[in-house]
Amino acid sequence: MSTSSLTSDWWRSAVTYQLYIRSFADADGSGLGDVAGIRSRLPYLAELGVDAIWINPWYPSPQADGGYDVADYRDIEPAFGTLDEAQLLIDEAHAAGLKVILDIVPNHTSDEHPWFQAALAAGPGSVERGRYLFRSGRGADGSLPPNDWRSVFGGSAWSRITEADGSPGEWYLHLFDVKQPDLDWSKAEVRTEFEDVLRFWFDRGADGFRIDVAHGLAKDPLLPDLNMPEAQLLQNVFKENHPYWDRPEVQEIYEAWRSVAESYDPPRLFVAEAWVASSDRLAEYLLPNRLHTAFDFDFVRAPWQAKELRATAASSLEAHQRVGAPVMWVLSNHDITRHVSRYGRSQEVRGDDPLHDSNPGPTDVLLGMRRARAAILLLLALPGGVYLYQGEELGLPEVDDLPDQLLQDPTWERSGHIVRGRDGCRVPLPWTRTGPSLGFGPGVGWLPQPVGWADLSVEAEDADRGSMLWLYRDALRVRRELPQLGAGGGDLTWTGEEVDVLGFTREGGFICIVNTSTVPVPLPPGRVVLSSVPVEGNLLPGDAAAWIISE
Ligand code: NOJ
Repeated sequence: MSTSSLTSDWWRSAVTYQLYIRSFADADGSGLGDVAGIRSRLPYLAELGVDAIWINPWYPSPQADGGYDVADYRDIEPAFGTLDEAQLLIDEAHAAGLKVILDIVPNHTSDEHPWFQAALAAGPGSVERGRYLFRSGRGADGSLPPNDWRSVFGGSAWSRITEADGSPGEWYLHLFDVKQPDLDWSKAEVRTEFEDVLRFWFDRGADGFRIDVAHGLAKDPLLPDLNMPEAQLLQNVFKENHPYWDRPEVQEIYEAWRSVAESYDPPRLFVAEAWVASSDRLAEYLLPNRLHTAFDFDFVRAPWQAKELRATAASSLEAHQRVGAPVMWVLSNHDITRHVSRYGRSQEVRGDDPLHDSNPGPTDVLLGMRRARAAILLLLALPGGVYLYQGEELGLPEVDDLPDQLLQDPTWERSGHIVRGRDGCRVPLPWTRTGPSLGFGPGVGWLPQPVGWADLSVEAEDADRGSMLWLYRDALRVRRELPQLGAGGGDLTWTGEEVDVLGFTREGGFICIVNTSTVPVPLPPGRVVLSSVPVEGNLLPGDAAAWIISE
């Protein structure tokens, strides 16, 4: 545990481990991960050296979108465990020195949530329908959707219901799956309900929340057409005055949430998932009376090229510094192609969306692995906090060849079997060299693991001092030992302007150098405290990084 985690602003430099509960550890043999599985692996997380865990949604849910379709915000999905077990997990994590961040899904509920069921039963014009975005259709018989908005997962963002008397009825908005109806956040009742949900978990000891689709809650009340070319309709955050992404009205919601968090001792934390057009837009969420932190997705999108990485990191740092917020660096998560694979693909020819490529070019996993080793040293040396996604500490690549019939991401169906979706980064973790799911659970897991993953298991990597796992353990240990890392060392100073080499210094003579070229480059003078691959004399090999203390 870092010293900063003892203070109320522990989150400024914390390293948080993301637990995709379905795929972390399965104690009961159902094939899905569970709360008991997480509890059994807390010693592993403490030994890894992280400060906090973030648990993806664990609430009762039909699992139409991996739990992001919540039917009850105040309980635990029976397939994952019970509320009592969740309480035990929170308490045991705290005893192990780990903070616990939960995941709140405020943009939409499940269609099986009691509110949506009540809305269906109550009929047009009712208070119950008013909690969601129900509208009449267009055209003489109302058979056309109310506007041209598209679901992020494909198809129209509107679905038509059948009224209780069997007649074709109103349409409701779902920016994601048809089973994820959007709430109407202009309604006071919606706001008070979610503030109460926050308190429910804060009262049980949750240290904070990750906010799902934080940029999407407020909608233009007129629900105007986007009127954009088809190719830009999806996820386009660059349009000025966008009718649903990144509208200024969302900030009032977060100002109220901040007050709830500040009413606790110690104050609780928020981290926003906000896909916005620029780091300046992101900073709007991070004013002192709004959210504490937000994931930095610009860095995730940057190719493995020193010049680009430096420019992106510098711009994020500047924008965050203006509002006094720390940057939260990320390489992977449960929505993004694993970075070993991203970095093992062409960095020049990148598709429209480098984070989810259904038809990636050839992948050089060994090259990706080498770059991933360097990338984590870069991230952990930058000022701010870092989010790790389960399995990246093992160097897991994306699983690109899951059989079509096993794909569960709703994107696969909604895109008409064009976009394969995110299952490839959600394959259950390998813990042991053997067993039906390599130690994930006593039986087989909900998705199959590639054969070669025995060598990437915790058991295999623990026995290999040169493994990715040991690099993560070493880097996290050194980061805790060096007071100038994390948020502790103030600003950083960039050194050199080379296209292929990135360098910066922090207090106390600390230097981080990253070589994204294929040829060795000279190391700055000093003592190498950690390197992603062995250094060669005074040369840093290609696609490698080192931490140095100058003497
Ligand atoms: C973002 C989550 O990370 C993703 O997994 C989910 O599908 C969408 N939000 C919708 O809730």
